[in-house]
Amino acid sequence: MSNYHIKHLEEYYQVYRKSIREPENFWEEVAEEHFLWRKKWDTVLEWDFTKPEIKWFQGAQLNITENCIDRHLATRANKTAILFEPNNPNEAAEHITYQQLSERVNQFANVLKANNVGKGDRVCIYVPMIPELAIATLACARIGAIHSVVFAGFSSTALATRINDSDCKMVITSDGSYRGAKTIDLKGIVDDALESCECVETVLVAKRINSDINMKEGRDKWLQPLLDKASKVCEAETMDAEDQLFILYTSGSTGMPKGMVHTTAGYMVYTAYTFKNAFQYRENDVYWCTADIGWITGHSYIVYGPLANGATTVMFEGVPSYPDFGRFWEIVEKHKINQFYTAPTAIRALAKHGTELVDKYDLSSLKVLGSVGEPINEEAWHWYNDNVGKKKSPIIDTWWQTETGGMMITPIPYVTPTKPTYATLPFIGIQPCLMDENGQELKGNQVEGRLCVKYPWPSIARTIWGNHQRYKETYFSAFENKYFTGDGALRDEVGYYRITGRVDDVIIVSGHNLGTAPIEDAINEHPAVAESAIVGFPHDIKGSALYGYVILKDTGESRNHDNLRKEINQIITEHIGPIAKLDKIQFSEGLPKTRSGKIMRRILRKIASNEMDNLGDVSTLLNPEVVQSIIDNRL
Ligand code: WT7
Repeated sequence: MSNYHIKHLEEYYQVYRKSIREPENFWEEVAEEHFLWRKKWDTVLEWDFTKPEIKWFQGAQLNITENCIDRHLATRANKTAILFEPNNPNEAAEHITYQQLSERVNQFANVLKANNVGKGDRVCIYVPMIPELAIATLACARIGAIHSVVFAGFSSTALATRINDSDCKMVITSDGSYRGAKTIDLKGIVDDALESCECVETVLVAKRINSDINMKEGRDKWLQPLLDKASKVCEAETMDAEDQLFILYTSGSTGMPKGMVHTTAGYMVYTAYTFKNAFQYRENDVYWCTADIGWITGHSYIVYGPLANGATTVMFEGVPSYPDFGRFWEIVEKHKINQFYTAPTAIRALAKHGTELVDKYDLSSLKVLGSVGEPINEEAWHWYNDNVGKKKSPIIDTWWQTETGGMMITPIPYVTPTKPTYATLPFIGIQPCLMDENGQELKGNQVEGRLCVKYPWPSIARTIWGNHQRYKETYFSAFENKYFTGDGALRDEVGYYRITGRVDDVIIVSGHNLGTAPIEDAINEHPAVAESAIVGFPHDIKGSALYGYVILKDTGESRNHDNLRKEINQIITEHIGPIAKLDKIQFSEGLPKTRSGKIMRRILRKIASNEMDNLGDVSTLLNPEVVQSIIDNRL
């Protein structure tokens, strides 16, 4: 038990050192004590980053759903496993107990089998944040089908690309979805996508918005009548440790999205272990991650990690702005949320609307606040800390990736002293390092370089679906024998890590290496600024110069733009130095964002560099319309 739940800093260092000195013994103990195995492993780890090939717990047999559901039934049958909070605050929340989850997953699994889906088959899940999404995911795992969840905000083209890439034989969807005051015709999007997918035999349709949709004879089936007839018992398929559990697509800097493949045992062990420690989850806590299950955050920290610990995990169908910008805090009060995990972009959006809607609610249940997805800037960090956490709940700034499966660098709350904008210390078992451009490791503290990982951890993605060569090139070729993250980071005087942004965002100005995050941080300190993004553009003398896109807060009054430009550069000079001053500052109404809220700097970079004919695909953006207005107002 001792290694499983870390409670103070000394213990962290002790356990960390052990996990690094004897990684195999360490993970073997964790795996041994906390999970249900049908057969134990023959070897803990075999790896070779040059191939690359990584195998954890080879020889073991298990089923992840027995770990997430069945084994809890003896003690937690009536405990809420999934707490569903609908889009509409007037619709009752649904408490799904572990017993009910077990029955519903088994029924769903039986429906999959009856529809010709078996072990190793790929199933695309394109379902909004309703319980069926989690249940379908677990049902696939129960029978050994490989799920490929596609975020239900992607367009039909993006969906078709993903269905075809992994050759899915089934799509699970719903008649539609609620999103704030709007409804979305999901089934119509699926129909469009399937025009160009020959591999799909069956479409199962969950009913959510009761819309009148088109059902294609022989292909489309309503889900509920099939579930009603299905048995509540379904024997779990025996899976090998390295059997593929799921595919999840993530966009690369170029080309097709990459179908990252995660496997069974290592993924389970690592997500469960990180969940327990990074959230300091205790038996009766109610935990809420606001992400969508369509992203890795939702896979690992709404579904698998929490359920493997027998936790209560909230699924929220709606958006932070509906019916007003107090919705998150209303839910925190209503369900007495103890751990709350969200993204900096959400925090900034909420902060823009002042503190009144936060102060209105009782947030005293909160013990831990999490942040994920991008560097959290100083201003957002303080707003979150002061107004949501009331300076009492530690913020864990968790750095990780779709590829890493679980958190990699994060404070452990009440254990690691936090520091704004720092992800702080590596998680147990993680061996990060910083590399310079010549491929040399930067030793010691107060260094900045490219963030790599030297040693495998259990939940590292094993390949890119159908393209192992690309996996090797993207992650294992930049630095010999290391996993390259694509991010830059610095290590401060006490060994804390700060992620400075994607290295493709690093801008060299007059020979100085500037990360975009610290500059944006500085700009965002200006009281009139809501958000900003910096990119480089070619400059005769400096090599690259900086171009800033700045969104102002809507205060109702107009400001003199030239004065603002001077003030912004003054703040940058104060925070970083005159070297980081911006050559151009464009005030814009929005920034192009991915569906997960990340700024698409690639587009901004092209506009700043006057390469508008070469913007690439903007159709998967959250707000494609903003691109034209940025081009029109280009400086
Ligand atoms: C990239 C991975 C991890 C789930 C959501 C995103 C950036 C993520 C942080 C953080 C600074 C962060 C990195 C990383 N990122 N978390 N706490 N601080 N940067 O998953 O879509 O695979 O993106 O997001 O640049 O490489 P993803």
